Amino acid sequence: MKIFLDTANIQLIEKWADTGLIEGITTNPTHLSNEGKNPVQQILALCDILPSGIISVEVVETEPENVYLQARKIALLSENIAVKIPCHRIYYPVIKQLLNEGIFLNITLVFSLAQGLMMAKLGAQYISPFIGRLNDNNGNGIELIKQLRHMLDWYDFDTQLLAASIRDTNIFEQTIMAGADIATLPENVFEEALNHPLTDKGMNKFLQDWKKLTISKFP
Ligand code: E4P
Repeated sequence: MKIFLDTANIQLIEKWADTGLIEGITTNPTHLSNEGKNPVQQILALCDILPSGIISVEVVETEPENVYLQARKIALLSENIAVKIPCHRIYYPVIKQLLNEGIFLNITLVFSLAQGLMMAKLGAQYISPFIGRLNDNNGNGIELIKQLRHMLDWYDFDTQLLAASIRDTNIFEQTIMAGADIATLPENVFEEALNHPLTDKGMNKFLQDWKKLTISKFP
């Protein structure tokens, strides 16, 4: 299972890059807007920080023809970009065309099993179901991940399941169990997932007990 960071913030990515655990980044228009910088320069910097990772960058045009042209331009920015296109019916022909041309796509804002199947049939490399936003709207995000996992395996699709909109460690752990290929985590969830209070407590206890030996050199 791969782990991506769900941010466009360079400092946060640099902070965790040396763990060796970050294999990609998912940006979205909100993340890039929050950074308040030139988005192209920001994207190029992200691609440089993680040259062997996959960096997702979303289209912001709305008309299908413009989405098509913009997706091609975004893909040309760097070899390690996956272009995010919303899973909306008006973009299906554009998605098919881009995939036929070999563009790496991450189909975003997926909220149903049927949408996931359609995108797998078109040959999308990634589909991104949004767990938190589905839960916010009385859906069951983890159940959707399980259904998509079953569908992709049952019909032997190559499409990878990228679990998105993960807001806490509990949901992250359920995502692991549900069989997502990739989880994209906000930085706070990633950091929380690295730790456990009982690890800290256990370390303190061992250290206190060790000090009772009163030896200064070991080994
Ligand atoms: C994923 O591609 C999105 O950037 C992200 O996971 C959205 O998460 P949110 O619903 O918490 O904004």
